[in-house]
Amino acid sequence: MEKTPSSSITPESLYLNRRKFIKTATAALAGPLVLTACDKVSGAMDSALNKMPDTKDVGEPTPYESITKHNNFYEFSTGKDDVWKLAENFRPAPWKLEVTGLVNKPVTYGIGSLMRKFAQVERVYRFRCVETWAMVVPWSGFPLADLIKQAEPKPNAKYVKFKTLFDPAQMPRQKSFWSQWPYVEGLRLDEATNELAMLATGIYGKPLKPQCGAPIRLVVPWKYGFKNIKSIVKIELVEEAPVSFWTKASPHEYGFYGNVNPEVDHPRWSQATEKRLGETFRRRTLMFNGYEKQVAHLYEGLDLRKNF
Ligand code: MTE
Repeated sequence: MEKTPSSSITPESLYLNRRKFIKTATAALAGPLVLTACDKVSGAMDSALNKMPDTKDVGEPTPYESITKHNNFYEFSTGKDDVWKLAENFRPAPWKLEVTGLVNKPVTYGIGSLMRKFAQVERVYRFRCVETWAMVVPWSGFPLADLIKQAEPKPNAKYVKFKTLFDPAQMPRQKSFWSQWPYVEGLRLDEATNELAMLATGIYGKPLKPQCGAPIRLVVPWKYGFKNIKSIVKIELVEEAPVSFWTKASPHEYGFYGNVNPEVDHPRWSQATEKRLGETFRRRTLMFNGYEKQVAHLYEGLDLRKNF
């Protein structure tokens, strides 16, 4: 029998086959444990399984080529198809990420030290841009909660503020006065420590490309894409809600929360449906982008029409 030449194996299929193997092996192990063992053991196994959310209920991951050639990154361009080219020479190393503000243990990490310090996870998440395009991305990185816990937030820390690099020599549109740079985003502390929130350093097991937010970006899959701030240099624990880049630019269109919600339209278009990159037909938008079970409790009692 002829061997498949390695050149015909795409990185995507290699990656997905490896994941399938790990999941099958973990499930085989989990079966008898869950049936027979005490809560402690099955709990540990549950959390191991949680680290690999099921690919089948999010659908097929979007091809790497599409994820890396269709981007929003206003520091480089207002277009989507030219970001990868314009960001080609961006230098993601050396890099420093400062964790500061209302914490007992402020710290500055290099990317290598972050990857060694925090247990790495792979998560295949839906991603939904406020402009209605969507995709499914296999991210790698680590839970944001782990980094926040390590910094020991003080009791008056209520929000987390994220800041992108400010370097007009490398990010040409930061020279324009069109908006107030750097890009800033924010989360409530309980959102930031939700199990879904992660800091991503890779896609399909490869380091993030500059256009995708190298070397480190936020991933909050129940929120619109604009909350997923790229190329982060500073994470600051604060008392007041940060005013984010898009809220400052257009407050009636982009609120603090940015939660995916099919029932709250953007003032200029409907949010009822979405289109995944590469697909022909539109899909129904899911409440909280399909992560209602994990996050709906964060917003109990909030009027989601006012707090959009
Ligand atoms: N982060 C920074 N620093 N600058 C940006 O322009 N765009 C946001 C978000 N993070 C943006 C950013 C928007 S609007 C979207 S939809 C996503 O990044 C797009 O991520 P992607 O290009 O990796 O798909």
